[in-house]
Amino acid sequence: MALLLSFITPFRGSANRSALKSVGMQFIAVLVLNIAACAQYTAGPIQPAASSGINDPSLNPRVESILKQMTLEEKIGQLVQYSAGQPTGPGTGRTDYEDMIAHEQIGSLFNVVDPHQINAYQHIAMEKTRLHIPIVFGLDVIHGFKTEFPIPLGLASTWDPTIVEKASRVAAMEASADGIRWTFSPMVDIARDARWGRMAEGAGEDPFLGSAMAAAYVRGYQGTRLNAPDSIAACAKHFVGYGAAEGGRDYNTTEISEHTLQQFYLPPFHAAVDAGAASVMSAFNNLNGTPSSANPFTLKQVLRNEWSFRGVVVSDWNAVGELIPQGIAPDEATAARKAILAGVDLDMVSSFYHDQLEKLVTSGQVTQAQIDEAVRHVLRLKFALGLFEHPFVDEAAAPKALYHPESLELAQAAAERSFVLLKNASGTDGKALLPLANTNQNIAVIGPLGEDSSYPNGAPPGIGPRTSLTSALAERIGETHVTRFKGCGILDGTEDDIAAAVAGAQQADLVIMALGESPDMSGEAGSRAHLGLPGRQEELLEAVTGAGKPVVLILFSGRPLTVPWAFEHVPAVIAAWLPGIEGGSALVRTLFGDVNPTGKLVVSWARSVGQEPLYYNALNTGRPPGDVDLTRPPADIVARYVSRYIDEQNSPQFPFGYGASYTTYSYGPAQISTRSLSAAELNRKLHSNAPVMTAEADITNTGARAGKEIVELYIRLQGTSVAEPVRMLKGFQTIALGPRETRRVKFVLTPETFAIWNANNQFAAEPAKLSVWISPDSAHGSPAEAEIVP
Ligand code: BGC
Repeated sequence: MALLLSFITPFRGSANRSALKSVGMQFIAVLVLNIAACAQYTAGPIQPAASSGINDPSLNPRVESILKQMTLEEKIGQLVQYSAGQPTGPGTGRTDYEDMIAHEQIGSLFNVVDPHQINAYQHIAMEKTRLHIPIVFGLDVIHGFKTEFPIPLGLASTWDPTIVEKASRVAAMEASADGIRWTFSPMVDIARDARWGRMAEGAGEDPFLGSAMAAAYVRGYQGTRLNAPDSIAACAKHFVGYGAAEGGRDYNTTEISEHTLQQFYLPPFHAAVDAGAASVMSAFNNLNGTPSSANPFTLKQVLRNEWSFRGVVVSDWNAVGELIPQGIAPDEATAARKAILAGVDLDMVSSFYHDQLEKLVTSGQVTQAQIDEAVRHVLRLKFALGLFEHPFVDEAAAPKALYHPESLELAQAAAERSFVLLKNASGTDGKALLPLANTNQNIAVIGPLGEDSSYPNGAPPGIGPRTSLTSALAERIGETHVTRFKGCGILDGTEDDIAAAVAGAQQADLVIMALGESPDMSGEAGSRAHLGLPGRQEELLEAVTGAGKPVVLILFSGRPLTVPWAFEHVPAVIAAWLPGIEGGSALVRTLFGDVNPTGKLVVSWARSVGQEPLYYNALNTGRPPGDVDLTRPPADIVARYVSRYIDEQNSPQFPFGYGASYTTYSYGPAQISTRSLSAAELNRKLHSNAPVMTAEADITNTGARAGKEIVELYIRLQGTSVAEPVRMLKGFQTIALGPRETRRVKFVLTPETFAIWNANNQFAAEPAKLSVWISPDSAHGSPAEAEIVP
């Protein structure tokens, strides 16, 4: 408790409550017609999801009218959620759902995917109970329901919130047709450590990009009207700091300073809430001593008081139960009390609310008013979804919502945009290996992932069309031109299989290697201490490359993999992530140049695991290496006593924001409209969305092929009351450029761009030296310099 208080204290009585409330990282997409036909993302008010959503005031009287008719038992029932799909195992609570629903002991069920079953449960709730309160059915619809899109890390690599919005719209249409009206998505946790497998489920390491993506997911899921039958409620998770797990070990403790929490970890949640997210999930992690699912500072102070969030807070899976092993509750009653008093409305599967809340109210440890507040949020969600009016799903119509041709097209386009071309070296003929010429060459596809046709990520498998890389390739160049060699398994392999693959490579004109992780190696509980290719795949890669044929390596993974040998010896490497249902065809179209890769990294790609956590927006040290050559061990004291490793470079293999293309681009110098901004004026205009500076640069396609380039804008502030990162992303846009074409890219910057969480924990601009980059990634370019005067 002492720790919690010390965490809260600096915020008490702060004059900046209203600033806290209305800021965070917020976004607006502006169409800059005369510059480039692409959306520009810079700081500004967020575009909300739904006109009639969780904040709709007309819901209040409806909620209150039901609430006042409810008994304590009925109220507690609304605060209980079970997973009906996995009735066994720890933390799953009871399984007699029909009976519980009939006795109004369940407010929500998840993991039921059969619409007939959903209707059956709903009929009990609507017909056999006193107040006819519908059940809300949820599911982890993470990157599509049946039409699987690339994993969120891949979707974020498009740097295109519009694609994310469209993909989540498809997910909403498919899931809602099935009767699922609530998804536990998006995961908006900032992930700085690739050992943490759930990096796969988020938008990477940057709060600005993460916020844009968070809002896009919410808009897509919730549609224009949350109560439309094809809308589903979004759930921003995991609140908060879950991605900062020590050692990258899932569920592990987190220690995050207030400044870092406010400036990096909270903004994507704030963006989701501002976009209208109807729910938030409280996380597993212990945050600065207090578990996130019993943390009144984050759940009450920030979420409810500062951000005015009106939706539901659902605990993560058995997170209320986990308060006991986490050491803040000796028994179930204490765990339930701490969770509900902290602001967890709905207890996911622990049963503690079901078992303990009534006794806690009777003994006066929890008040009726506190129960009512939680119930209000749950009822509000149900009203906002229109469930009271339309509780049932049309079972016959459900399959018709799946796999629409446009949905599959979108899945393919999203996959194509998600790929990051990491390397494309030129051969002795001076030509880059990719794209492949459309000739009669014989291609050997080698590796355990060449035949995988779904690339899912733990999501319930779909039943629709699949295109594996190999089958899509055979379709493209003819079966007779394709040979297949597994080479090894993902985790195992034999000498014979490796030898057969090498022999196969020798017979081919070109080799495509499909290597990486199985889907279950990332995602939840997918922490890894080693980030190289698993099993014998590195051995296979080196042996096959030794056959002397040109090799294209396609890495399938939920995180960056440390494969320095490959980056040195293999001419072409593509990060394909886990690309979803149309991944195979998207890859083949990319390999043959039907599409020019545009994806860029949303996480820093480490050289070795020892560099983790690794993120570009880090603070400088007092001893930056400067000009010291970090590629060799320190030879003298000048090279040694700087912030470095003695056996590894500091820089990533590929920086955040990096991605190559089949063409090349050059960036002209960044030009800014003013060299001097006034902090006082910026603060006066904060939240006004007033343009205070423009930054422009000429970008030229220096190659012979048309392409799309993601242009990134970064700033650095020096001299502030709190040290700020060496760079911070503050804008991005994608521009299309024909061969040899030049376009002037313009960013319109608002006061929020320059505000920081300062030493007084206020969001404000301060006098500082200001640097502004317009660059292709976070590591290149030279800045325009300006200052922020008092
Ligand atoms: C995960 C959540 C998920 C929940 C329900 C938990 O284990 O951490 O992200 O939404 O399970 O499936």
